[in-house]
Amino acid sequence: MDARADRRLDLIVFGATSFVGQILCRRLVERHGTDGDLRWAIAGRDPAKLDRVAADTGADVERIVADAADRPALAALAGATRVVASTVGPYALYGSDLVAAVAEAGTDYCDLTGEPQWMRRMIDAHADTAAASGARIVHACGFDSVPSDLGVWFLQQRARERFDAPCEHVSMRVASMRGGASGGTIASMTNLMEEAAGDPDLRRMLADPYALAPVDLRSGPRQRDVNRPTRDQASGQWVAPFVMAAVNTRVVHRSHALLGRPWGPGFTYDEAMLMGTGPLGAAKAGGLSAGMAAGVGLVALGPTRRALSRWVLPKPGQGPSPEAQRKGSFDLRFFGTTADGRTLRTRVTGDRDPGYSGTARMLAEAAVGLVQLDPAEVGGGFWTPATAFGDRLVERLEAHAGIRFDVLN
Ligand SMILES: NC(=O)c1ccc[n+]([C@@H]2O[C@H](COP(=O)([O-])OP(=O)(O)OC[C@H]3O[C@@H](n4cnc5c(N)ncnc54)[C@H](OP(=O)(O)O)[C@@H]3O)[C@@H](O)[C@H]2O)c1
Repeated sequence: MDARADRRLDLIVFGATSFVGQILCRRLVERHGTDGDLRWAIAGRDPAKLDRVAADTGADVERIVADAADRPALAALAGATRVVASTVGPYALYGSDLVAAVAEAGTDYCDLTGEPQWMRRMIDAHADTAAASGARIVHACGFDSVPSDLGVWFLQQRARERFDAPCEHVSMRVASMRGGASGGTIASMTNLMEEAAGDPDLRRMLADPYALAPVDLRSGPRQRDVNRPTRDQASGQWVAPFVMAAVNTRVVHRSHALLGRPWGPGFTYDEAMLMGTGPLGAAKAGGLSAGMAAGVGLVALGPTRRALSRWVLPKPGQGPSPEAQRKGSFDLRFFGTTADGRTLRTRVTGDRDPGYSGTARMLAEAAVGLVQLDPAEVGGGFWTPATAFGDRLVERLEAHAGIRFDVLN
């Protein structure tokens, strides 16, 4: 018996006023309407802003007012619904009380965090409560880390079918990615740098590939992070570091641990960006790596970070234009190798900008997927996209989100 069956609502979008929250609202209106089978509501701290979002996006559904620091309001919100999807970030600043509330209330939850330090804090603080209450909590349901996590999941299913064995080594390579960044994403990244600057323990945790695994599985074989221009064995091209690898790889290793390490004790996973072959590929890989290092250096230093935030970078609430979102896309290649050297290549592509339209669609499908997810199949706890949903989310994304999963050879 589902303890949440008698909840008034199926889904609350907390942070409906955010840049990505508004895209999510439009998407839910397109897919589910406002008075159909999905009983949903929008929530945020400012009632006038919620009214504007309802008018602008067509999400003329119930409005719930709650501040991210108002615990009684969050408890009431969590008790009113089966699922909360939150876009209130940076999550490390504004997300913790809500996770405590849903874990306590047995309410399912998904979000867009790409902040490993915060996921780790939430797992350590609330995993037992969620397991006891039945709350299924799924972080990282956006571009970080759905395509990586489900991409590895998809490749491993195909490897089992073809080879009757998993791939022991998987490398994800970004072949192309077109899209912009929003103020919310920039704020999350700068907050992470600020936290890490003054905290050596946190820096150590961020360097640990197994940081998000359950406590007894926080070790394993050495992992290779691509953090400089490298001539890549998997693809035969030059590669450069991928900015989201530090989140995605940790989520993939959590999935592996939660599944009982079916891809073998020697499983390795890394991510990087394809830059092409020959001297031009080498030059591009060098240029991108240097540019990233310079960008990280500027953001890591307090004064330049503050100046960039004030004058250059998008502010919270701002992000790429609707046209830029429509023109965006992504193409991720997965190179798998079994323990005895057989290879498999797969691809995950999306027809919208990864960070916003694409991400909003991923979160919409995860949220509605949670509404429909049988508690007898997946119980309470902190799951990843692959372990909560697996093939169910692959199918939903292919059917409704313009995302494809293909075998290349
Ligand atoms: N995983 C991914 O690929 C991905 C992609 C995109 C974004 N993200 C993440 O998603 C989050 C949202 O991004 P965004 O660009 O849409 O953010 P944004 O436009 O800056 O919106 C932030 C939201 O948080 C709300 N908020 C802030 N403080 C609050 C409080 N005390 N109480 C209640 N609500 C509060 C804001 O409400 P007001 O409108 O009232 O100010 C707003 O709705 C960020 O953490 C970002 O890093 C992840």
